[in-house]
Formats: sequence, structure tokens, C-alpha cells
Amino acid sequence: MARRGSEYVCQDCGAVTAKWSGRCTACGSWNSIIEERSALGVAGAPASRNDAKGTPLALASLDSDIPEPPRQLTGMAELDRVTGGGLVPGSALLVGGEPGIGKSTLLLQVSAALAEAGQTAIYISGEEAPGQIRLRAKRLGLHKSPVKIASATNLGDIIATIKAEGEVALVVIDSIQTLWRDGLDSAPGTVSQVRAASQLLIQLAKATKAALILVGHVTKDGQIAGPKVLEHMVDTVLYFEGDQGHNFRILRAVKNRFGPTDEIGVFEMRDQGLAEVENPSEMFLGERRDGTPGAAVFAGIEGTRPVLVEIQALVAPSHLATPRRAVVGWDSNRLAMILAVLDARCGLRFGAHDVYLNVAGGLKISEPAADLAAAAALVSAFSGVALPQNTVYFGEISLSGSIRSVTHMGQRQKEAQKLGFTAAVIPAAGELKVEKSEQGFVLQRYDHLSELTARLLQQSGAAQPHNRGAMVG
Ligand code: TYD
Ligand code: MG
Repeated sequence: MARRGSEYVCQDCGAVTAKWSGRCTACGSWNSIIEERSALGVAGAPASRNDAKGTPLALASLDSDIPEPPRQLTGMAELDRVTGGGLVPGSALLVGGEPGIGKSTLLLQVSAALAEAGQTAIYISGEEAPGQIRLRAKRLGLHKSPVKIASATNLGDIIATIKAEGEVALVVIDSIQTLWRDGLDSAPGTVSQVRAASQLLIQLAKATKAALILVGHVTKDGQIAGPKVLEHMVDTVLYFEGDQGHNFRILRAVKNRFGPTDEIGVFEMRDQGLAEVENPSEMFLGERRDGTPGAAVFAGIEGTRPVLVEIQALVAPSHLATPRRAVVGWDSNRLAMILAVLDARCGLRFGAHDVYLNVAGGLKISEPAADLAAAAALVSAFSGVALPQNTVYFGEISLSGSIRSVTHMGQRQKEAQKLGFTAAVIPAAGELKVEKSEQGFVLQRYDHLSELTARLLQQSGAAQPHNRGAMVG
């Protein structure tokens, strides 16, 4: 029997049970159930009320004028883009990301930008002492900015502080997992603490019309730590991604009640903090070398913005019984599919070869439109002959080997042309008009992957490929 006032809460999904067990019956995860006790009743829920005594609500219709939510521009164009036009006063935004990726840096910069514009911005850290925050600010060249900072973890103190400030434009809490509320017996970071803290802060943001930004830690598989309910409670969820080995960082919206969810903001981590990247393609293609076999430029779309990136493949004879397939930045199942299609429909045998595929710069691509670029890179790596330098690729490949049209073809082509490319290998299907101003740009349109591989191999025949012996027609 559970003790009075105590319950067992799954730290992964937030399911509440009366008894401890090793495995959560709701989400199936092991060892995630923790006993939580609370003096406030069930996990910080409001005290029970006589439900029968409610007052009737005034029901409204859908059809009435809704003013656009007012927006607070942050002064960082990339952040404004991801949020759909700036922060919404009174809304709550959650920023997740791996440790060290730059969440604190980004939010300190945003706070400083707002403070310098004459707004009140409060940055509360539960992880760093004021000295450390000042040190970071100094490094960022922001130490003169009038941001109000504090180190605190007690929710009551934080709320009192914000209330005492009067009109506040922005409150940053770094991070939500460090806060604790009086009267809750569980440790900071547990489901009940995180839920209670965010509930109160969100209420306060609504009441004071301050934009609230919460930092959330992520678990090792990339989810925001703590209950999924946290993501449900806030209006906007952004992920800050990138890897430690590369300088660029991507801010991605995964939920947004006030804007689109497929936008990305691109930043570069420099010595003086995060700098905005206006033209990501230039950055991703910046270090391209001429004439290397196995490299194909993919014209992708991230949100509303075209992004060109190089896909690199390496095909090497394998000494293993099961040859290696390794992918960085793309879906390994998709690589397996493309290899199977190249084998079954185009007669290219990769069975005795190790295959590596890498998206240059550390970008992660999820679009199926990258299929054609990946296939071209693989064929080029296999034949040992470089693809033409000035060509981009996009198109989805189906299991039959046919090449299917993709969205935003015109936009992809325009971006390629803007960056000096002169040709695109694309699906035969789908509207794509080349305007007068775009003449001189060659569109090579293919129906089936075998036509493209035949053409690439023909070119390689002239150039004496090193891998020729491995090919079966
Ligand atoms: P930080 O913002 O502390 O990450 P998070 O809050 O997500 O854990 O980022 C710290 C990293 O950023 C650290 O590894 C050093 C690097 N960094 C720079 O490269 N330049 C800078 O100007 C700053 C402040 C940090
Ligand atoms: Mg931090």
C-alpha cells in the first residue's frame, strides 16, 4: 500500500500509479518510476473544489475577429524567424538541447538584446552563479547591457522577484529542471517539481504579459527530460541542435501555437558567442573541394528556406562477412533502401563493399528529396569518378527506381542558381519553369534512376574508374 500523500510517477511519461513497479505499464520504460510525496495533494494539482458549484461559462463562437498576437521582436532575426515573427507576450517557450550546445549563451544574448532595446529582461539561472554569468557576458561583450540577472532555484523567490519588477518583457529560466517548490517533497527535476514549477511560471507569464523562456535539459536519446506534459503545457517548443565538432547550431521549432513548425534558425558559435547565419548554403558549401568522387550537392528545403548541402559517400571493398553501412546526418533505413534500389533496379552490386554516407557540416537531413543526391554520390563513389562540380540534385526515389517529384522545385533551383550552380538533376515529373532571367541553367530531368546511373557510368567509362571490375551490368 502506498503511504498517504505519496504516489508513484513515471519520470518518462508522467503516468501515476499507486504501487511501485520496475516497468511503467503506460509507456513501457524500465526503472523510471519514482515515489513522489506532496503536501499539496496529487502532484501539485490545485486543491479540490466543489465541482458542482461552478459558474456557467459564456460560450463564444468561432467567427469573430481575432487580433494577431502582438509580437516582441528579439533583435535576433533567426530567433524571430523560428518563433514565427518574434516572442508573444504572455506565452511560454521551451528550449531544449544537449549540454554545452549553447542554450545559455543564446538566451543571455537574447536577454541582452531586449534589455539594450530598453525593455526589462530578467535572466534567472539555477545552474550558474552571478559571477559565472558575468564572465560569460564579458566574453560575449555584453557585460554593459542592463539585463537583470539572478541565481535562484526556489520557485517562490523567483515568482516574488518577477512580480516585484512590474512590467517585464522577458523572463528566462535556465533551467526548469533546477527549480523546486516549497511543499513538494520530491527532488528538483522530478515530474511533480517540473510540472508544478512550469504551471506556476506559465500562469505568472499570462498574468504579467511577460514572454517566458524555459530551458529544458534533454535525455541521452534527445527528448526533453521530465514529463512529456511539459511540452504540452508550453506554447512553443524549440530544439537547439548541432554537434560539438562543428560550429554551426540549428534552432528548430517542433511545436508552435503562434507560427509554423518547420522553420529553422541557423547560428554559428564563435569566440564572441552565437552569430546569425543569413545564408546557410554558403556556409555548408564553403569548404568544398573540387573533383572528389562521391560528393553530390543536394538542394534541400528547411522550413521556407532553401539550404544547399554536400552529401558525401565512400564505397570501399569490405573484408567483413556483413559489410558496414554507416550514415551520419541521414536516415540509415533510407540508405539501405537506396542501396537496394541501386542493386535491384540499376544492377550496381554493393554487396561486397562497405558504404559510408555523410552529410557535410553536421547537418541532419530528413527530406526524402535527398534520395537522388545520395544515389548520385553513391554511384560516383562506386565508380570513382567525380560528379560535375556545378550540378545540384534533388528528387525522391521510389522502390521501383522511379524518380518522383518533390515540393518547392522552383525555390531549390533558384537557390542553386544564386550560388553559381549551372545545372540541376531533377525528376521528370513536376512543374518547374525556367524564367528568362534563369536561362543558361540546365535542367536534366530523369524518370528512372537507371537512366541516371547509366549516364553517370558512361561518363566514368571514359575516365577509367578504379572500381569498374566490381560492377555487374
Ligand atoms: P552554453 O551556452 O553554456 O551551453 P548550454 O547552456 O546549452 O549547456 O555553451 C557553452 C559552450 O559554448 C561551451 O562549450 C563554450 C562555447 N562558447 C563559445 O564557443 N563561445 C562563446 O562565446 C561562449 C560564451 C561559449
Ligand atoms: Mg546552460
